Amino acid sequence: MFHLSLRTKIMICCIGLVALLDIMVVVFVRSQLSTTLRAECLTKGRNLAGHLAARSEHLVLTEDVVSLQRLVQDLEDSDEDVTYAYVTDRTGRVLAHTFAHGFPGDLTGVNVPRPDDSWRWEVLETEEEGLIHDVAVPMLSGKAGAVHVGVTERRIHRTIAHFTGVIVIMSVLVLLIAFGLAALVSWVVTQPVRSLTKAARKIRDGDLGEQVVATTKDEIGDLVDSFNQMSAELLKQHKVLDDRNRRIRTAQEQAEEERNKLRAIIDSMVEGVVFVDAEGRISLCNESVERIWGIAAQDLLGKPLLDCHPPKVRTRVAEILKQAKARPGYAVTREMACPKGHYRLSNYSSVHGQGGRYLGLVLLTQDVSERVQLEQGQKALRDQLFQQEKMVLIGQIAASVAHELNTPLATILLRTQLVRRQIGDDKSLPDLNVIGSEAQRCRRIIDSLLGFARRSAGVWARMNVNDLIRESLALIEHDLVLKGISLEAEYASDGTLARADADQIQQVLLNLVTNAADAMPDGGHLRITTWCPSQEDSLKIQVIDDGCGMTQDVLERAFDPFFTTKEPGKGTGLGLAICQRIVEEHEGQIEIDSRPGQGTTVSISLPRAPLEVTTSD
Ligand SMILES: Nc1ncnc2c1ncn2[C@@H]1O[C@H](COP(=O)(O)OP(=O)(O)OP(=O)(O)O)[C@@H](O)[C@H]1O
Ligand SMILES: [Mg+2]
Repeated sequence: MFHLSLRTKIMICCIGLVALLDIMVVVFVRSQLSTTLRAECLTKGRNLAGHLAARSEHLVLTEDVVSLQRLVQDLEDSDEDVTYAYVTDRTGRVLAHTFAHGFPGDLTGVNVPRPDDSWRWEVLETEEEGLIHDVAVPMLSGKAGAVHVGVTERRIHRTIAHFTGVIVIMSVLVLLIAFGLAALVSWVVTQPVRSLTKAARKIRDGDLGEQVVATTKDEIGDLVDSFNQMSAELLKQHKVLDDRNRRIRTAQEQAEEERNKLRAIIDSMVEGVVFVDAEGRISLCNESVERIWGIAAQDLLGKPLLDCHPPKVRTRVAEILKQAKARPGYAVTREMACPKGHYRLSNYSSVHGQGGRYLGLVLLTQDVSERVQLEQGQKALRDQLFQQEKMVLIGQIAASVAHELNTPLATILLRTQLVRRQIGDDKSLPDLNVIGSEAQRCRRIIDSLLGFARRSAGVWARMNVNDLIRESLALIEHDLVLKGISLEAEYASDGTLARADADQIQQVLLNLVTNAADAMPDGGHLRITTWCPSQEDSLKIQVIDDGCGMTQDVLERAFDPFFTTKEPGKGTGLGLAICQRIVEEHEGQIEIDSRPGQGTTVSISLPRAPLEVTTSD
């Protein structure tokens, strides 16, 4: 495809049009001229032939051949268009002719007029003269013969050639003028277009507001005016847009700054901040969440909030999400126990935008494990204090009650003995014995009470706990064997020295062994061990039985004074309470580990008192 400029196209169109018109004019004029001249030639031939016939009639009748010859010769000489002329008699014999080399035989019998013809015409084609119009006019309706005049087209052709030349020259001139005009018109038309194109390119390259000078007041001028208006409007709109863009950029920068500030604030918060979108997915979170939840922030983003909670609390969190969506201004705080002894305090607040549209939920979460543990410790301490106060109170009551009961009980026992001696073998003796034994039991209880209430004022000395255990077991060993209980003792080889009140520690051991024996009514195995943990400054004693064990309920209350599971009259419930008081007086600790049917282990920890080694220089 050719890429022609508009100018070239306009010129080609104009010149092509004019050239076409030129050709049409030449063809038309030539054709018209040829027709007209041919008609004129024919008329001329007819006139000449008619005239010759009129003058030849008499000469033919008189057979004046000489005059006839002169007549046809004069005719030929008088007109250059006449090529030949000849006269025939009524038999067709040529009487006179103008042919210098004799009458051509080819003409004999050509264009012979019929009797009713006033004239007759035929075109002959010759080599020398070209086309010749043979015009024949009969004389006296053919009775005297006929005259023939040959009129040549030479002059017609000359005239046509001449006019054609003139027309061609004029056409060329017109063509040149058309060329000039086309060049002018194309320049007039394309010059503003080029200016417009140049200006449009400048606008494209950012030079807005470019104006083009209108050189004409026509449609192109209107186009230029419209272009100028458009360019000016573009410049104006560009300035408006520029201004708007600047304002948007400033607003964006401010928003960015605000966002960064907000982000910095959120990231610096000790509490974990999580924003959950309307679909329940996490769309924002800070670094503290990573620490509190133990999940990387990038893993949290886009994750459903429910998936970040343990299955057992998901229902609760789902309910919170539901409420937050339904109730603008909804806020709730929840504390949750998490695995590994962690506690979380979470505050959920719904976020609603304009028109009450739900945007999501803000979750503030913090690890409150330390606080909860502290609170739990404080509670345990309070319980312990309460327990100690209770023990002191019970001790005081027990001491005063025991003291008050001791004197009348001593009197009862003394009088019972006296009465028993006085009555001898009286039938009321068994009753007296019952009174005596029950009074004895009361005394034992009172002794226990006093033992529980009394602060030790015994003898404190450094002693080997292993030896103390051996002595205590020797007292009770026989009794254990009778009850079907096998005894096993395992002693630490070293480091079993402790500063203690031997009687009291012995009482502890006897209480524990008695409890173990009571827990194994059908016999069993009792194991006593001592050992010294290498990294601790304490001595451990364990009393282990494979008896009935304790339920959780019994275990929790075992150290309570007067708590017993034994039948009324069988236990005071003071045994373990006394053990605890004695061990604590020795700055030690006592713990029980027991499960129903799995035996019981009582562990005592006492501070060690190693011998001070003195070296002499
Ligand atoms: N080794 C043990 N095995 C199972 N239960 C035990 C054991 N030691 C103590 N108990 C439970 O703890 C309770 C309290 O024991 P504690 O020694 O204080 O009182 P008690 O033995 O009932 O009475 P007392 O010691 O005056 O005879 C017991 O009644 C018993 O239920
Ligand atoms: Mg007991």
